[in-house]
Amino acid sequence: MQEEGMEFETDKLFYNPEMRLCRSFGSLSVGAIGEELRVLDGFAASGIRGLRYAKENRNVTIVTLLDIWKIAPAIIEKNAKENGIKNAEAQNIDFNEYTVKNESDFIEIDPFGAPVHFLNNAFYSFRKMKKGYISITATDVAVLCGENTKACMKKYGAKNLRNEFTHEVGARVLLKKIGDFASQFDFGMEVLYTLSDRHYIKTLIRITRSAEKASEIPRTLGYASYCFHCGYRETGRFPNRVCKNCKKDMDYAGPLWLGELQDKKFLGKMKTLNGKRDYADKAEIGKMLELMIGEAGMPAFYYSIHEICRRGKLPYAPKTDEVIAALRKRGFKVAKTHFYERCIKTDAGIKELTKIMKQETK
Ligand SMILES: C[S@@+](CC[C@H](N)C(=O)[O-])C[C@H]1O[C@@H](n2cnc3c(N)ncnc32)[C@H](O)[C@@H]1O
Ligand SMILES: [Zn+2]
Repeated sequence: MQEEGMEFETDKLFYNPEMRLCRSFGSLSVGAIGEELRVLDGFAASGIRGLRYAKENRNVTIVTLLDIWKIAPAIIEKNAKENGIKNAEAQNIDFNEYTVKNESDFIEIDPFGAPVHFLNNAFYSFRKMKKGYISITATDVAVLCGENTKACMKKYGAKNLRNEFTHEVGARVLLKKIGDFASQFDFGMEVLYTLSDRHYIKTLIRITRSAEKASEIPRTLGYASYCFHCGYRETGRFPNRVCKNCKKDMDYAGPLWLGELQDKKFLGKMKTLNGKRDYADKAEIGKMLELMIGEAGMPAFYYSIHEICRRGKLPYAPKTDEVIAALRKRGFKVAKTHFYERCIKTDAGIKELTKIMKQETK
């Protein structure tokens, strides 16, 4: 196999070429952190992710790669050797067993499906440290994003919602679960980025030991109330069952992380680094980073232009740029989103937004 200048073997181990962009994204984030890092690739398979992190970033002092497949360490070590990576070691051990006894600065959690069973031990491994980084990929989007509410309640302790902004709800469900562990272990948490792409949600958080910051986490949680009749949404400490716009019943999601999803400064560093690298997905990554930077500081939950047109029975769907210009002209904050192409984030409410779009399509 080949990926971003590396030639490597996979044998019978898992390798998904579709995740190349996700691995490049992760590698940029390692580089953007800048400080020296002992990296743990806890779910390594062929090792392609962790080995790329070490090869592409000078700040990686060592990468330890784990997998429960017996054949993995020999293949990973061969891949490291053939690509001239000297600061890599591989072990055939369960992630939870390893993290009970060993410390790292940056932990990569990329299992099959839900990452929930590994969060406790990831945080436990930081118990004697002042700070650290945890990078998490969740591929159970069907659970996080509304298709299976029972499983979401069971695994994440939160209700999902199958609506137009289901992917943002999914990301906030995942972050709420991470936050539960962070506060439990007396860490504050900063979300450096949240990426929803293809069949996965990925996030990187910086944790800092602080009882005060840990107590802020539960205060950052809350609910999203949503009206399926008119598209009105609101956030708050508790769900609201009656729509303030059309007075009909509302549904809800939560508890959710209602804090920031994107750190503008950190994403800016990733963007600069992406400009210097020659990744095959450079253009797509650059576009995504730009959109994610735009999302920083915007209100939670995006609007779908198509949904507004459908509900408001508009004669045609205006272009996204036209809607953005119309909102800006009237003094609203507005940004495109990386979640979906025809969606926007704005501080305008559904009533104003529908009215403005109606005026634009007259
Ligand atoms: C999605 S794959 C990882 C893909 C890899 N990070 C990449 O980018 O190519 C998940 C891997 O985690 C391994 N795994 C599953 N449970 C594990 C555990 N508890 N501890 C360590 N490895 C585990 C599986 O054997 C599998 O190889
Ligand atoms: Zn309503």
